Amino acid sequence: TQDVYIIAIESSCDDTSAAVLLNDQVLSNVVANQKIHEQYGGVVPELASRAHQQNIVPVVHQALSKANIDKKQLSAIAFTRGPGLMGSLLVGTSFAKSLSLALDIPLIEVNHMQAHILAHFIKEKDTPKPEFPFIALTISGGHTQIVKVNNFFDMQIIGETLDDAVGEAFDKSAKILGLPYPGGPLVDKLAKQGNPKAFIFPKPKVQDLNFSFSGLKTAVLYFVQKQTKIQPNFVEENLEDICASIQYTIIIILMDKLKKASKSTGIKQIAIGGGVSANSGIREVLKQGEKKYGWTTYVPKFEYTTDNAAMIGIVGYYKYLDKSFTDQSVAAKARFSL
Ligand code: KG4
Ligand code: ZN
Repeated sequence: TQDVYIIAIESSCDDTSAAVLLNDQVLSNVVANQKIHEQYGGVVPELASRAHQQNIVPVVHQALSKANIDKKQLSAIAFTRGPGLMGSLLVGTSFAKSLSLALDIPLIEVNHMQAHILAHFIKEKDTPKPEFPFIALTISGGHTQIVKVNNFFDMQIIGETLDDAVGEAFDKSAKILGLPYPGGPLVDKLAKQGNPKAFIFPKPKVQDLNFSFSGLKTAVLYFVQKQTKIQPNFVEENLEDICASIQYTIIIILMDKLKKASKSTGIKQIAIGGGVSANSGIREVLKQGEKKYGWTTYVPKFEYTTDNAAMIGIVGYYKYLDKSFTDQSVAAKARFSL
């Protein structure tokens, strides 16, 4: 069979990324983070789209030169059609369409959430790929889903958040504690030095395999306000314990639903993905599931957990084999279901 070279573009939120794949292998994966949002304590959509427009051409150039291939070798271009921020998606979508036209190569649309799941199929040394069917827990700043993955293109959402995403729970709690954006990685770091059972936060009562995280940030806010009234330096003096307790609560909520999902489907192959799957506590507890429940667990390489174009490229590769191409009239889609 012939080698397939895919160039992939991701611009759904605040990272501009381009990658080049040779079949299921990543030759380059360039990500330009947008620092501008830090000072606002969250992603500002209007600023994100402007930065994408500035970054996209240099990022693509870098991806091509790192992969050490010529544009003429490319077989197809894959891009994130959605879900995400409309202004951000428009930049990647328009760029991909133009490049497809200029190079006269097929265009392949990719669903960002599907890409977080199929990131597990990027070929890596010593990293086994999940076997179908498997359960995927996708946890990021924008999404929280449990998906039954029957095949590359046959996925079924069996649970999702009814309000905030897990990443938001981390970031908003961190903001209340006075930590800079994005707070998730900082909470993770501080939690390592804290006692996860120091403080108790309520767990939501949500039916089936769905989640709710908006109550947690409110509980953290009231807790901090109440304690600070009694002891003004409460947060500073207990930061590690508070972070550990918040993270512990989040892990319990996630694991509880994951156990239910595995039980109700009879599937013991469990894969996690999305930015929050970088969390060391979550990784540790998931791994314990192997001994406790007989699971086989899969965690992608760190650089493929947060938003990146390599994961868009792997979906592009499988769609290319499937001859699943997209018409030039395609439009970006902010809400785009699996
Ligand atoms: O997948 P991602 O890069 O972007 C979205 O599609 O949202 O996920 C970003 C989210 C942020 O909320 C960030 O705080 C969180 O992932 N995150 C973490 C960790 N690393 C990133 N949350 C907890 N612990 C971490 N180590
Ligand atoms: Zn994402």
